[in-house]
Amino acid sequence: MPIPESPLPPPLPSNTLASVPERFPALRTHLIDGRTESRIEQLGLDDLSPGELVVRTRYAGVNYKDGLSVHGQAKIINAFPRVAGIELVGEVVDASTPGWAAGQPVLVHGFQTGIAHDGGFSSYVRVPAGHAQGLPEGLTPHQVAVLGVPGFSAAMALERFEEMGVTPASGPIAVSGAGGAVGLMSIAILNRAGYRVAAITRRMDLADGLRLAGAAEVIDAAVLAQPQRPLEKPRFAAAIDNVGGAMLSWLLRTMQDGGCVASVGNAAGNRFEGSVLPFIMRRVQLFGIVANAPWPQRHRLWARLGSDWKPDFDKLLPHVAHISLAELMAHSASQLQGTTAGRVLVSFEP
Ligand SMILES: NC(=O)c1ccc[n+]([C@@H]2O[C@H](COP(=O)([O-])OP(=O)(O)OC[C@H]3O[C@@H](n4cnc5c(N)ncnc54)[C@H](OP(=O)(O)O)[C@@H]3O)[C@@H](O)[C@H]2O)c1
Repeated sequence: MPIPESPLPPPLPSNTLASVPERFPALRTHLIDGRTESRIEQLGLDDLSPGELVVRTRYAGVNYKDGLSVHGQAKIINAFPRVAGIELVGEVVDASTPGWAAGQPVLVHGFQTGIAHDGGFSSYVRVPAGHAQGLPEGLTPHQVAVLGVPGFSAAMALERFEEMGVTPASGPIAVSGAGGAVGLMSIAILNRAGYRVAAITRRMDLADGLRLAGAAEVIDAAVLAQPQRPLEKPRFAAAIDNVGGAMLSWLLRTMQDGGCVASVGNAAGNRFEGSVLPFIMRRVQLFGIVANAPWPQRHRLWARLGSDWKPDFDKLLPHVAHISLAELMAHSASQLQGTTAGRVLVSFEP
């Protein structure tokens, strides 16, 4: 059943520092005797890392990387204690620098948010003004939050494909880890941009939903268990790989001549085996994505996400879930097990 879009609630009567409660909830991660411990605490603004903007958080996207942070499964956070959450959408409550006004909607991602600076898993955040972006045209605050880092990562890959000469006429684009957030956004954005998308998932029970999101075909990831050949039948003009490991090896072997593979994720692991044959026999190109782009690229890609790459949100919203801060630890534990699907936002209600 479609989840209705939840627009931003109306601004508080006074969008000023005085409206910030003395204490507000945040999920904060500590390192205690070498072990990571994350718990909901009542913080004040002075407990947060510094920044010229005080932002009231409305939505914080939940990313795989955040799960690794809050459960201490990888060394992501670089100083403790830290509020994780690598992205957020909210509104400015107070700005001690020109160019920003109270009540202004704002997007924050990258710049080590949730890693070296306190991030989105808090009702209020202090943000260095140089890390904040006004919302792109053509998108509501909720739509920006839905796209978030996963949508931006997909857009980075698509821009590179375009630069490498890939067009919808080149052939289908494979998307692995299709049931996850980057997979879902990749499907919807590529579909909007006119590409035929082949979604690859371990969970064929998701196939109907992935087709509704814009996939033209759904491939069972069990294909990896079939006997391997040095080069498989060429199938794809490009691929967005969110999985790594054997999936990345298979994608490289199934590219058409001149195919382009974007390595985005490592949900199945960091290592992969391969041979040089895809490169020297089919001119395959492999490149990496780091969703922390310089400002000109950020503005360019968000502008496209709000215009010619703007996905059909009616198709996306059935795959978007909203959780509370209290549900975050359990959700991210499931995400690391690979049992969650779609895009999940922590929603901070007034
Ligand atoms: N490079 C960057 O800047 C960047 C940006 C964003 C995300 N990422 C990375 O991209 C990856 C995907 O992120 P996400 O937000 O989409 O995560 P997600 O929502 O948790 O989705 C990951 C998907 O990968 C598949 N998967 C999970 N565990 C697996 C396993 N053990 N073996 C094979 N497949 C597995 C699942 O898809 P199916 O069940 O459909 O197979 C799962 O839904 C993560 O590794 C994340 O850290 C990187």
